[in-house]
Amino acid sequence: MTNRLIYLDNAATSFPKPPHVLREMVEMYARIGASPGRGNHDLAAQAGAVVDGARARVARFFGAPDPTRVIFAANASDALNTVIQGLVRPGDHVVATRLDHNSVLRPLHALAERGMITWDLAPFDERGFVDPDAVASLLRPNTRAVVMCHASNVLGTLQPVAEIARRCAERGVPLVVDAAQSAGQVPIDMAALGIAALAFTGHKAIYGPSGIGGLVLMPGLEIETTRFGGTGMDSASLVHSRAYPLRLEVGTLNLVGVIGLSLGIDFVEGIGLETLHEREMGLLARLRDGLAAIPAVILYCASDLAGHLPVLTANVEGVHPQDVGAILDGDFGIAVRVGVHCAPLVHRDLGTIERGAVRFSLGAFNTAAEIDGAIEAMRAIPHPGRP
Ligand code: ALA
Repeated sequence: MTNRLIYLDNAATSFPKPPHVLREMVEMYARIGASPGRGNHDLAAQAGAVVDGARARVARFFGAPDPTRVIFAANASDALNTVIQGLVRPGDHVVATRLDHNSVLRPLHALAERGMITWDLAPFDERGFVDPDAVASLLRPNTRAVVMCHASNVLGTLQPVAEIARRCAERGVPLVVDAAQSAGQVPIDMAALGIAALAFTGHKAIYGPSGIGGLVLMPGLEIETTRFGGTGMDSASLVHSRAYPLRLEVGTLNLVGVIGLSLGIDFVEGIGLETLHEREMGLLARLRDGLAAIPAVILYCASDLAGHLPVLTANVEGVHPQDVGAILDGDFGIAVRVGVHCAPLVHRDLGTIERGAVRFSLGAFNTAAEIDGAIEAMRAIPHPGRP
């Protein structure tokens, strides 16, 4: 029994947040918390300048040339809804993958249920990667887009998006990437990778608050407005603003979130994404090695950690993952996420759809001692082979 929480649920949301990010976020919001883009007073102008600065920061962070094509959203799911629903037309076909999260699968399923689109799913291999040729083989003349995760939130495997983008470009199909898990964890250069649209969230590996994320569009990809409302622009007209970014934003922005997002980017860039990633992957290898030495532990797609994020999914033979999670939490103060992690098709293919699995996901503040604590706790879990 330990007194201190060992937080290994960073793929759900990073915790804790860097204290200075929270402090400076609140301080700045307290100072300039007017409605950006609304009103012609000085405070509104200051708030607007902070938002403009944040758009430029996000565009640079993701290797996109045009800050006006950075659209703020509540999170990656929100951004994915905006891009998917604004892109597809009746009769279109869309390709996604069996690794995808419900943030991709559910909007596509809903559109298919309404008879609007058809869709196909590329499989993943026994290591947890999608083959670019498998995606290419699903493209049809009416394929409007390929929408897929950059990294699986269950397996942590980073997908070969550059290769997939190349295959898509040959057929004139835009690649839309769900970067919920990877943004802030690994460098993403949309121009270099050939990504047409990227959905991200601020509260995971960017270490900002929840409630802020966004959609970044490369020039040339036009997304129709699917939600309408106040933008602070063209107010005399009943027609929603056509120019980006307001074309895809409605209502008052989450200013405190935008500030926190910007500070979070400062935090990860200050340390260096590569430095953070390398450190966390060192800890992940320690966890993997420790768990692999426990005979009752089953690991999924973790024999080679190259091309992975610091995420590891496991089960204990003969023990319900909910019970594993409850023991880790209640007896050892270890926070993990159990179940099917909003990614049902991954678990179907792993054979874990009935009960799910136990996911360990690491962050910037984890230590080797915490990892050793998690290994020992897993070793101590009673199971049919060791009651
Ligand atoms: N998508 C988040 C996760 O994987 C919430 O836990």
